[in-house]
Amino acid sequence: MAEIPEDGIPHLRKVGRSTHLIVDGKPYIILGGELHNSSSSSLEYMEPIWKRLVSLGLNTVLTPVSWELIEPEEGLFDFSLVDGLIDGSRRNRIKLVFLWFGTWKNAESTYVPTWVKSDLERFKRAQNPLGKNLSAISCFSEEARLADARAFGALMRHIREVDSGTHTVIMVQVENEVGILGTSRDRSYLAETRFAQEVPAGLTEYLKAHADDLHPYLREAWKKAGCRVRGPWKEVFGPAADEVFMAWHFAKYVDGVAAAGKAEYPIPMYVNAWLGPQHEGQQPGEYPSGGPVARMIDVWLAAAPHIDLIAPDIYLDSFSAVCVEYARPNNALFVPETVRDERSAAYVFYVLGQHGAIGFSPFGIDDVVDSHPLTASYRILAGMTQLIAEYSGKGRMIGFVDDPSYTPAFSISTGVMRGFECELGGYRLRIKFNKSFERGKVPAAGLIIALTDDSFIVAGLGFTLSFAPRPNGKANVEILKLDEGFFENGKWVQGRRLNGDESQNNRVVYLGDSPSVRKVKVYEYD
Ligand code: DGJ
Repeated sequence: MAEIPEDGIPHLRKVGRSTHLIVDGKPYIILGGELHNSSSSSLEYMEPIWKRLVSLGLNTVLTPVSWELIEPEEGLFDFSLVDGLIDGSRRNRIKLVFLWFGTWKNAESTYVPTWVKSDLERFKRAQNPLGKNLSAISCFSEEARLADARAFGALMRHIREVDSGTHTVIMVQVENEVGILGTSRDRSYLAETRFAQEVPAGLTEYLKAHADDLHPYLREAWKKAGCRVRGPWKEVFGPAADEVFMAWHFAKYVDGVAAAGKAEYPIPMYVNAWLGPQHEGQQPGEYPSGGPVARMIDVWLAAAPHIDLIAPDIYLDSFSAVCVEYARPNNALFVPETVRDERSAAYVFYVLGQHGAIGFSPFGIDDVVDSHPLTASYRILAGMTQLIAEYSGKGRMIGFVDDPSYTPAFSISTGVMRGFECELGGYRLRIKFNKSFERGKVPAAGLIIALTDDSFIVAGLGFTLSFAPRPNGKANVEILKLDEGFFENGKWVQGRRLNGDESQNNRVVYLGDSPSVRKVKVYEYD
């Protein structure tokens, strides 16, 4: 992670077990959305979209800035689009995360300027095992790396010049879903030469130093090949060699680009992953080989010190399992892309509550209408961001979501139900999902904060919370008072007092199909 800059520009700060994105001196949680790829290439097209983003309750928009549009001729930069996007977001009080579509976008090189695309002699392409050029530039092309780094450096310099006093741009994604498709490794001459060389000491030293914390796939691959610290890739990593080799070199390339940007303006930078393998037996190359997939995170951490976060694009149903793989002590969770259907309204409670995530952002946000339940989730969470940041990483907050990668079930007298029990604050909580899980439908999800041992904030949808005596506690636990309401700038705004039918006479906290918030105080007696 970059050192905390003295001049107060956006940065990451490690606080105990959690990591905060700090903007204007305070933790900032991204309640975001990512635009479709082409929307931000026209300021006119964007004009009506800004209003819609505001009415959705977004505080941040993730928007592409492509190499082809800022450097149409080599060395001649045009930042009018960048300036227009900054201006649009300031007028609408929304922050920006820029997505640098440089050498790669979805494992291809479709967003490079025409002068790069058409010069295959200077900007070498990756090749498949038949020696055929791919549409992607090779990550072994020194010329491409230097040209990309120059352009990205110029972009970050410009952002510093126009925004370092205002902090509209709070983070930057470097490239987009990198990796190589169609082959497990680049077979161009440049790549094959490197593949025959020894694994860099920088990687094996990292593996040795972090042996206990490595992703199990990488640890096993390295172990099976004998935990070697020297030798060519095939000998050190066996069958995993192609993917590890590509991950190291993609990460080095991206790190070089990020370093050039940080030298100009060191705000947080991250990479996003096209996930893989997505099913058993899927091979690297069938998903982008060398991209920052979960099992390659360690390689990326070793190779790319200028990258602050490795972030998953989650379109899989196993949403929570993916988050668990990416939320690690050395990698804070940020979800830059996910489904924009109604499930997103639920997922956001889980990522913030369980993982203290830096942010959440469904893809294609320009298509989302304000009747979408995400609007209600964002409105609820907007007033709670400081509270969530304050409680993250302290063991006093949980988040949950019902999805196919969620397994716990506990038995009650009527049979097996979906839900779980856990201890939080001074009590045992029993969370029961109101409906059984249905693929594609909005799942139950929530976030619960123990403000004190006996008072809780409960937010989310589709579940019923009750309290049980904890081991060695008193025999009965009941709700003392239950309120509905919401937070405005961190302050509780009181709604109805819920009792009688609305709480089964002070026995349960019920959250229906629409996102809502409750404040509850419980007590115990013998
Ligand atoms: C993932 C990419 O990163 C996005 O830019 C976009 O192309 C989406 N896929 C489309 O689903």
